[in-house]
Amino acid sequence: MADDDFSIIRDEGTPPTYKFFNGKEWVDSVSGKYNDVVSPVDGSVVGRLPVVTKDEIDRALELASIKQAAWEQTPLNERIKIMHLAADYIRHYMEYLVNLMVMEIGKSIKESKSEINRTAELIDYYADEAQSIKGETLDSDNFPGYKKGQLCIMNRAAYGTVLSIAPFNYPVNLSASKIAPALLMGNAVAVKPPTQGGISGLHLVRLFQKAGVPEGVMCALTGSGAEIGDILSSHKNVHMVAFTGSSGTGLHIASHAPMKQLLFECGGNNPTIVLPDADMSFTASEIVKGAFSYAGQRCTAIKYVLSTQGIIDALLPLVKKQTEELVKVGDPRNPETKMVGPVISQSEAQHIKQVIDEAVSKGAKVEFGGTVEKTYVYPTIFSNAKPDMMVVSCEIFGPVLSFIAVSGPDEAVRIINSSMFGLQASIFTTDEGAGLALASKINVGTVQINGSPQRGPDHFPFLGVKESGVGVQGVRYSLEAMSRLKPVVINKPQ
Ligand code: G3P
Repeated sequence: MADDDFSIIRDEGTPPTYKFFNGKEWVDSVSGKYNDVVSPVDGSVVGRLPVVTKDEIDRALELASIKQAAWEQTPLNERIKIMHLAADYIRHYMEYLVNLMVMEIGKSIKESKSEINRTAELIDYYADEAQSIKGETLDSDNFPGYKKGQLCIMNRAAYGTVLSIAPFNYPVNLSASKIAPALLMGNAVAVKPPTQGGISGLHLVRLFQKAGVPEGVMCALTGSGAEIGDILSSHKNVHMVAFTGSSGTGLHIASHAPMKQLLFECGGNNPTIVLPDADMSFTASEIVKGAFSYAGQRCTAIKYVLSTQGIIDALLPLVKKQTEELVKVGDPRNPETKMVGPVISQSEAQHIKQVIDEAVSKGAKVEFGGTVEKTYVYPTIFSNAKPDMMVVSCEIFGPVLSFIAVSGPDEAVRIINSSMFGLQASIFTTDEGAGLALASKINVGTVQINGSPQRGPDHFPFLGVKESGVGVQGVRYSLEAMSRLKPVVINKPQ
């Protein structure tokens, strides 16, 4: 029963007041300070999260640094079993977690189910892949001037404690995508959940604990980034920061995490180039899905389309029509809602409205939507957009799509490469050779040809360049990123 397993992480109040996990037990913070989690769906307070103190952080991270060594010595097959059990618990509590997430972050039922199921699949895949992470050996006489007799054995070792900082838009999946590889490679993990999404994140930590992660190896420390972020990312007992979130926050964390390993996914504002030979109807459906899924609140969401005016004249009516048909704005609890529920907060909705107004003031034409009601931003499509408008140059975490007319692919590439973002880009063309040639000129992490930007499938490499990220994620890549080479050289002089 959910209450039995989760009653220890909260009180019986309405709304519940949650506890933080100090590595041994779920406790209240002595700070007496709490952050309300306000539902974007109806403005209700769905829970209260404690703000932990520096002393509570120090003690949890001290315990992690003590317990991590024994955890790293635990047989890998035992660590793998715990991961598979955690995945099974997540599946078991699918409905419970979905109901939490829908209210906490306004994600539709369908998208919430997809996130929870994807998380269980991801953890299982990490656990299976961990079995094939092997060391290598090198002989000394490979190098000129050296004799045989020095054998370098390269295993992989943990870094120590990994700090996991997840975003509100995937509070379960993007926590597990950090927790699982960190634990499998023998690290301890300190989880800092987002404020909105933090309730879902704490439930995930509880399930990892229930699955058997030993005392001290994992903790969950709640509080906003402004309140505890710098204490955590600069802490002497944190050896890696694994972060997903805005580019601004990523830049801030990186400047407060000296000599730490970083694994970041940041903002994308992802562009799409449509070439004259593209299948326009298919391209339109991919653009609508890529721009408006989860109300555009995805780092990989499409934010602008670059094409010649002639292509835009042919494509835009199709995109508007398919937006009309495929996107249903509404309460995420309503199964009829498709893609666009509320954005995460009233303040975010207001920010998006300001950006919409700025684009109009600079000459962008509203072709669809353009209105904001409380936390609901209606899918908005601009024509006559320009690269210097905030809808293009800033990360907009909302359902806003802009069409920019260019002279041809070369100008499109110049605009993309001049952006501070570099997560993904899409190219639509029926000539895949031309797509590959164009992709080679675009400076982003991943180029999708005839598909909208996306992180999945989760065993593919996933990375951002420039202000869109540091390091490479994806199952094998995250396992390798969360471990280091541990060379041991046996010297036997010949
Ligand atoms: O916004 C988080 C980023 O990882 C997007 O993931 O799966 O929606 O492409 P996805």
